[in-house]
Amino acid sequence: MRIALGSDHGGFHLKAVIKEYLDQQGIENHDFGTYDAGSVDYPDYARKVAEAVVRGECDRGILCCGTGIGVCIAANKVPGIRAALCHDTFSARAAREHNDANILTLGERVIGPGLARDIVATWLAAEFSGGRHARRVDKISAIENSYCGAKRPS
Ligand code: RB5
Repeated sequence: MRIALGSDHGGFHLKAVIKEYLDQQGIENHDFGTYDAGSVDYPDYARKVAEAVVRGECDRGILCCGTGIGVCIAANKVPGIRAALCHDTFSARAAREHNDANILTLGERVIGPGLARDIVATWLAAEFSGGRHARRVDKISAIENSYCGAKRPS
């Protein structure tokens, strides 16, 4: 599995923790920045990661900012993205099983590194359940397509 990683300055340290965890686990990952703690704008990094996922360059993405909220809102503007902000392992599992979330977002100012690692591990291990959940995810795509057409970033 190829993971796209991204953060703003508010999530920079947590992204480093997650990158180290993925490297330890032997999980391929691509870091789309930011690469230092200088102030940047979170939509820029959410967009890079979201586009890498919808283009199929990476299978899933993980985004960090101070709260996890800004990157989640921004990533969800990219057609085909289902980004989920999860600060507990129950939600992380459900985000995959029920919502087929292709991006996980986390807030460095909200949770510590240990819980973040557990959330990432849970989210990476969980799979989409399909069935009735597929019907619901299809309805999310239908809402998206009614506003955005079938356009996907190329
Ligand atoms: C940056 O100060 C902060 O606003 C950002 O990291 C994030 O929390 C926004 O949602």
